[in-house]
Amino acid sequence: MKLFHSLLAPPALVAGLVPSIFAQIVNYTPSKGRGVSYSVNVPEDTASAGSGPIYIQVKGPSHLKWIALGQGNRMNLGNNFIVYSGSGDNNVTLSSRRATGPVEPLYTPDIEAYLLDGSGISDGMMTANIRCDNCMFLHDGRSAVGAHSEWIWAATHGEALNTNDVSAKLYQHDWHGIFSLDLTKAVGGSSDNPFLRSESHSYTTIDYTSMSKQQQIDDTVLHKKRIAHGSLSAIAFVLLFPNSALSLYFYPSRRTVTWIHAPLQIFAAIVALGGLAIGASVSRDVQGVRNYHPIIGYIVTLGIVFVQPALGIVQHLRFRKTGEKTLFGLAHRYLGRFFMAFGIINGGLGFKYACTKTPDVPLAAKYSYGFIVGSQVAIYVLVIIWRRWRNKKSESQAAGDSEAPVVKDSKDSQSPGVTVVSDYSGKMGMKTVAISRSNETLWSNGTGETLHPGYSNSRAAN
Ligand SMILES: *[C@@H]1O[C@H](CO)[C@@H](O)[C@H](O)[C@H]1NC(C)=O
Repeated sequence: MKLFHSLLAPPALVAGLVPSIFAQIVNYTPSKGRGVSYSVNVPEDTASAGSGPIYIQVKGPSHLKWIALGQGNRMNLGNNFIVYSGSGDNNVTLSSRRATGPVEPLYTPDIEAYLLDGSGISDGMMTANIRCDNCMFLHDGRSAVGAHSEWIWAATHGEALNTNDVSAKLYQHDWHGIFSLDLTKAVGGSSDNPFLRSESHSYTTIDYTSMSKQQQIDDTVLHKKRIAHGSLSAIAFVLLFPNSALSLYFYPSRRTVTWIHAPLQIFAAIVALGGLAIGASVSRDVQGVRNYHPIIGYIVTLGIVFVQPALGIVQHLRFRKTGEKTLFGLAHRYLGRFFMAFGIINGGLGFKYACTKTPDVPLAAKYSYGFIVGSQVAIYVLVIIWRRWRNKKSESQAAGDSEAPVVKDSKDSQSPGVTVVSDYSGKMGMKTVAISRSNETLWSNGTGETLHPGYSNSRAAN
């Protein structure tokens, strides 16, 4: 069938460029665009030559401050056309701009784009009929006009600019989006102003909106999502996870595990998952799903939310049964630190990542993050050093006075490096085992050697 088709079709059709007879203007009207609409026509001659003028119409309510259309799915990929009210003559200003990054694009005379008749402001609508003579290719050399032609749009409300200055300051947009057009459907005709009313009889417009691969973003909502994502993730990784881990060093007891550590970490995990969910939505909005920041975020959050509780629970159950510190506990401790550290670093990377997507990341947020991270790391390290020092102290007291058991609750304690029993026995490491629960309990390293007869298990005695 395909072969048959190819044999009969003229070469240009095989190339996908010959129009269907009546469909020569393709239109897109974003549902959240407050009435803005964009149309494109590729004249027959341009299509067959692969170069030449194309026609673009940008239209929208005149209460908008400006309306923009850009080629490619990012501002820095192609030519951008920004349309706003001119000074006084009921006409619009066309500012053709290029961008080097996510910052405001700058006017450039290199874009050969011109306003045509029919442009102007009337009946509450701004209309720009544009001819562009060098709009066939994106800056990276790809065609801008194929069957999967990608475009971006943006609009913002605010007071009319009323200026002919093509470099007017725009600030950020209120809504923006990406859409695709099948521009093979936009090929046809030879008018030098296809959007003029007098030409309309020879053109048919296809509303491509429902077929478009599109994404529409309310920038106010996106802004809130970004702040919520950053705040929740930072609170979870910088404050909740580390301090909940430290609770074991402050109050080393089994009750700390079940009544403080576990509930706090569950809460922290919920906060982190909330941050992740919002972050995932942000990464879709900014077209950055495959970026390093979201990927690290997924790994770290899922690790901390699923692996850590599993290891912690296994360790806790084993400990209750045998009093042993297991490899699970060790893994729980070090993986926890690893995940926290990576999460915190990824927070820093998040600022870097955000700056590649938007220019408005406040410096104060970066500095506060750095400051809070620094303080938290200092607290974490100091508490661990303090606990080691406390344990050493009790240990030497215990060694000096065998009548006074220092660790009241040693059997209960799973806290890392915390129990006098395990700490005292730097030589015993993980082999520390309570061999009996009776009053005569002695602590042993598993070799049968009695380590310190001064330690009685006060809990077993209760
Ligand atoms: C607006 O300017 C363009 C380009 O100069 C012109 O062709 C068009 O007729 C003008 N529109 C009005 C309403 O004056």
